[in-house]
Amino acid sequence: RRPMRTASFSATCLLAVSSQSSRSLAPALRAPSPRAMAASSTAPRPGRLIDSLDEAASALRSGRLVAFPTETVYGLGADAFNEASVASIFTVKGRPRSDPLIVHVASAGAAEALVRLGPGGLELMRRLTASFWPGPLTLVAPAVPELPSAVTSGSGYVGVRVPEHALARELLQRAAVPVAAPSANRFGHVSPTRAQHVMDDLAHHPILVLDAPPADCCGVGIESTVVKIDEQAGELVLLRRGGVPEASLERWLAAEQGGAAQRFTLKVKPAHQPTPHDGGSGAATASSGSGSEAAAGG
Ligand code: TXA
Ligand code: MG
Repeated sequence: RRPMRTASFSATCLLAVSSQSSRSLAPALRAPSPRAMAASSTAPRPGRLIDSLDEAASALRSGRLVAFPTETVYGLGADAFNEASVASIFTVKGRPRSDPLIVHVASAGAAEALVRLGPGGLELMRRLTASFWPGPLTLVAPAVPELPSAVTSGSGYVGVRVPEHALARELLQRAAVPVAAPSANRFGHVSPTRAQHVMDDLAHHPILVLDAPPADCCGVGIESTVVKIDEQAGELVLLRRGGVPEASLERWLAAEQGGAAQRFTLKVKPAHQPTPHDGGSGAATASSGSGSEAAAGG
């Protein structure tokens, strides 16, 4: 269900026009000149693939950006409490600073430490995390004030999740810092599900990319479902569709007997039609349909 990536698209186009002379081809479809090929092969690519979890963990702690596999897509991670590192995520992705980042942690307890909820909201969060974590569900709740505003985009809310992928969880444990991570693609590009996709898109920046065998990455293949806990309204607001289907959340709420969860209803935030100016970002709306970056682009 992922759209064709640029390389295979170009190959298809080249096949389609192969009966024409190369002179009649649009410039973008002509074979690159030897000089262009030499230039691109010598272009600096400071990004680096790595295998070592310890190297990845200590790089995160020392302020570097590390792309890592999750069960949904590759994330581009930074220590969430390091303002400069978090700022560099936006630069590397070319992403507007108004689009907040999900913070990845190793345990539900670590996630609770990042949010400020009343007893009802906290109980709902605990029940949700017991059912859906580790996994592709991001919970948005009021943030603790210590969290840099670059992470929350000044909204006062933070999205948190415990990913299910073994490498991601081990990395988070060894790094021992919460890791702010959007999908590891340039803004507007497709979310990556392979280390090589990340290298292709971002290796002109000095990032590290934790390698994972393709068979062992990103089984969900679309981003996490994002829901906001609105304690005052008694609503669980679906902001983005993704790995946990809306129907599963509905069923889960209906099955909750007694306690706080019973007092919450699921609300779907009205779809927002992306414009070319916002890069098609599905931020804070449930409009992305499949939840895929292919549609959302952020
Ligand atoms: O599966 C995923 O969610 C992947 C992996 C790496 O965890 N991450 C991901 O992040 O897709 P990103 O930044 O590409 O998309 C996160 C979405 C954005 O649309 C963002 O606006 C929304 O979640 N989001 C994050 N924090 C939020 C907040 N505090 N309030 C509202 N929306 C938030
Ligand atoms: Mg994204």
